[in-house]
Amino acid sequence: MTLSRVQVSLDGTRDYEVLVGHSLTGTLADRVRALCPNAARAFIVIDDGLPELARANLASALSRRQFATAGITIRPSEPDKSLETLDRVLVAIAESRHERRDPVIALGGGIVGDVAGFAAATYRRGVPVIQCPTTLLSMVDASVGGKTGVNLRTPDGSLKKNLVGAFHQPRLVVADISLLSSLPDRQLRAGMAECVKHALLSGQFGDPTLLPWIESSAPAILSRDSGTLAELVSRNVAIKARVVAGDEREEAESIVGGRALLNLGHTFGHAIETLPNLSPTGQPTDAPLHHGEAVALGIMAALETAVSYRVASPSLRDRVGSLLSRLGLPTKVRGLPPSDRVLELMGHDKKVQGGVLRLVLPHDGGVCIVKDNPSLAIVLGAIDSIRV
Ligand SMILES: NC(=O)c1ccc[n+]([C@@H]2O[C@H](COP(=O)([O-])OP(=O)(O)OC[C@H]3O[C@@H](n4cnc5c(N)ncnc54)[C@H](O)[C@@H]3O)[C@@H](O)[C@H]2O)c1
Repeated sequence: MTLSRVQVSLDGTRDYEVLVGHSLTGTLADRVRALCPNAARAFIVIDDGLPELARANLASALSRRQFATAGITIRPSEPDKSLETLDRVLVAIAESRHERRDPVIALGGGIVGDVAGFAAATYRRGVPVIQCPTTLLSMVDASVGGKTGVNLRTPDGSLKKNLVGAFHQPRLVVADISLLSSLPDRQLRAGMAECVKHALLSGQFGDPTLLPWIESSAPAILSRDSGTLAELVSRNVAIKARVVAGDEREEAESIVGGRALLNLGHTFGHAIETLPNLSPTGQPTDAPLHHGEAVALGIMAALETAVSYRVASPSLRDRVGSLLSRLGLPTKVRGLPPSDRVLELMGHDKKVQGGVLRLVLPHDGGVCIVKDNPSLAIVLGAIDSIRV
């Protein structure tokens, strides 16, 4: 049952819809057939953490709409989000005799969506991709907007997040809330970090009450009330859609309204995320951090920077810190290396422009600003503020 549709408006020829609802497998297959009327095959890239039933339901719904299906299962870890995995996916697509009109369908979390999207962007110079996100994070963020890619392992052994990729907009995104029922709690909480990020800039994108709504809905979200989750996904997708519509390729120079605003928490977060020994609880068995956990820490470091610049009030920082804690996300972390090492890792982030470090800083009232070349003393202090 479709509860809501959010339109992602680009240039009129590549616009697409995000469907949010429950038990959408049949709807998805119908829509893929309508979007790809002459396709003979569909290739599914599947997340190996999904229950077998999710994959089987999608394959049989597609075959009822006269698609011959083939697929590949991939293990979604950051080290596996690699050129080697991309190669495996491309070879499997080629072996299925996939043609240009045939769609690739990504059924999984953000890693599967990014790898499948990149494969679709490059196979035969571009085939259609349909995103079927199965984590909260990929529903509210990764599946919408057309960013695809993999990490790069450099000769020193470190992982450079999302350094290789392409913009390739999906033809359709289907967020089936029923698929969240098997998602582990830690993954659900990690997805909430991106929702809090959206809430901190939602005033600029038509939903100024998102932060108080998340605050009051936190118990219903964590107990997985399906109506609340559907509203959460729709409202967040609407924000992401408006940001992407205004600046599809993150090229806007203006500090107001550009896609770069979505990097809030990510410049700090990406640096922290690449450190394999960090854990949200301090327990080594919980390492490494999930993407959303690193983003939560990054949001706190960005808020601390914003407080130092008097862009945000200490009460906003404390309010967001308390919300992240209620959502079960870390606001401080044990075992962070020296702050100048973290700063060095931030320098490798692709959000650094022309050697200038660019940070997105929350402002009171649901808006954010971009700060180029922040004082290094302030940034080092912000990194120290998230250290246990
Ligand atoms: N393209 C973008 O715009 C964008 C935006 C944000 C994040 N990302 C990327 O997304 C990735 C993070 O994505 P993620 O948080 O979805 O994590 P993920 O893809 O790593 O998946 C998390 C875990 O959940 C499991 N899983 C997925 N769906 C499940 C389900 N329904 N039931 C049970 N288990 C399930 C997976 O097997 C995996 O173990 C990062 O690589 C990040 O860089 C991309």
